[in-house]
Amino acid sequence: MKRLTQLLDSNRQWAEQISQDDPHFFETLAQQQAPEYLWIGCSDSRVPANEIVGMLPGELFVHRNVSNLVIHTDMNCLSVIQYAVQVLKVKHIMVVGHYGCGGVKAALESSRHGLIDNWLRQIRKVNQKHSELLSAWDHSHQQLDRLCELNVIEQAFNVCETTIIQDAWAAGQEITVHGWIYGLNDGLVNDLEFNASEDAEVEAQYNLAISKIEALRQLALVSEKGHNARNLWDRVRQLFN
Ligand code: CO
Repeated sequence: MKRLTQLLDSNRQWAEQISQDDPHFFETLAQQQAPEYLWIGCSDSRVPANEIVGMLPGELFVHRNVSNLVIHTDMNCLSVIQYAVQVLKVKHIMVVGHYGCGGVKAALESSRHGLIDNWLRQIRKVNQKHSELLSAWDHSHQQLDRLCELNVIEQAFNVCETTIIQDAWAAGQEITVHGWIYGLNDGLVNDLEFNASEDAEVEAQYNLAISKIEALRQLALVSEKGHNARNLWDRVRQLFN
């Protein structure tokens, strides 16, 4: 029998360290959780929700699946959103994708991957929906980056369209839905600037976020090959500010 001794040891050290800083930390936390944020992210091991935003246990409610998808028939994801909104009353929901996402990459390929292709079908739909926009990058690394970004925007839009968020907004509850994408190679979050706080804002926020990727295409077409995403995004933000 193989035991995970090393992990159990490091768990003990971690708990001791936190208790040293605050002797009542776990005791207090065990009574209740009151996170203000729901993070919907990818299962990828390189995108650890709490660490990225420097949050302790109790501060972030988390749902993760392959390629951070929000599908209206997914009871798991919907149940997490419902609990976060109705019971925890989170103030913010962020859909967090990441560049170089394996699920998004697989959806761009024509080869079969088995069962997961049914799940990735949703990303293929995003790809088809924005095929004209994406065609500017022609199967390059950048095309994958753009599809990762578009996937975040579409999934953030899907969050807004759930009955849970629609009902919460109708009842006057304060919740903002955000779209973020994380860079594996620099550890930084790129804010895609989709921020919807009410139903009336959703379409405009969606269109604005997509138009920034449109602007990115214009810049990509005129700039030299291999221009990095962060520089392009900085220039796009200047255009819109
Ligand atoms: Co991923």
